[in-house]
Amino acid sequence: MHSLIEILQDGHFHSGEELGERLAISRAGVWKRLQRLETEMGLKVCAVKGRGYRLAQPLLLLDAERLNQAGLPWSVQVFDTLESTNSTAQRLAAAEPEKGLVVLAERQTAGRGRRGRQWVSPYGENLYLSLALPVTGGMRQLEGVSLVVGLAIVESLAGLGIAGLGLKWPNDVLVDQQKLAGILLELSGNPDDCGQLIIGIGLNINMNIGEAVDQPWTSLAKQLGKLCDRTSIAIDIIQHLAHYLSRFFAEGFTALRQDWERWHVWQGRVGCLSSGVNEVQGLILGIDSGGALKMRVDGQEQIFSGGELSLRLAHDT
Ligand code: BTN
Repeated sequence: MHSLIEILQDGHFHSGEELGERLAISRAGVWKRLQRLETEMGLKVCAVKGRGYRLAQPLLLLDAERLNQAGLPWSVQVFDTLESTNSTAQRLAAAEPEKGLVVLAERQTAGRGRRGRQWVSPYGENLYLSLALPVTGGMRQLEGVSLVVGLAIVESLAGLGIAGLGLKWPNDVLVDQQKLAGILLELSGNPDDCGQLIIGIGLNINMNIGEAVDQPWTSLAKQLGKLCDRTSIAIDIIQHLAHYLSRFFAEGFTALRQDWERWHVWQGRVGCLSSGVNEVQGLILGIDSGGALKMRVDGQEQIFSGGELSLRLAHDT
């Protein structure tokens, strides 16, 4: 299936005859595979008599060879379709627990978001990346790590010149009020000893339609008005992760706190923090040395932390 998509990814017309020859299958076989692109992969194919077939939207597939030759500090495995890159990274890391590894996929069928949400993961459009890292000496030292991942992503994207790019506590990457990327951290193993930290990143790159997404969102292509090279973006994000995570593990979150606050879009604004039923409103002061949120609530400074909390602006109902 991958090779048919590889031919069609340019968005140009290809005749049934050409596809049959290049894939060494019959015209009926081509037809069946084209139908499966629509029914199984959710890719829209346009057919025009006399011209052939093309994808409604061109794609830029991940290039595993370039990723593996980029001199990255972790091995990278690229998959076509996975339920969730986080689950696969966790499974693969269990076989070689002492090494870090990166898992990428063209599509996820059960991508997970924070707070039990699904993460919409259409074929070949976005980045679905999970980094598995071995952790020794207990999980307590990971305080603030999810904020550091957000910092690595915005620093990587900073050079693209997107106005309004920033971070929302704890770890959403936004452009104005629209979500560009989300981060899901999962831990496995013994919390007091050794285990695996799975860092899952979903970054909207070339998504244009995204009908199933249930929150305001944007993508790099929407912001920049062009299709982006997902492989280069993945390489750059992995390099930034390596840089910021090694600083975090060597110097602690305190060394990165100011850098994070510079990107914090709602610093000094009035926000509502909710944990399901409970909600508090206050002035967003910043973060503390462990990455917890500081707010002035009823005249008093309070500290909030926890992966299930969600922050929004007070006037934003
Ligand atoms: C969020 O809700 O903001 C977090 C979204 C995280 C999505 C990514 S996509 C790659 C990795 N695999 C998953 O199943 N989830 C994360």
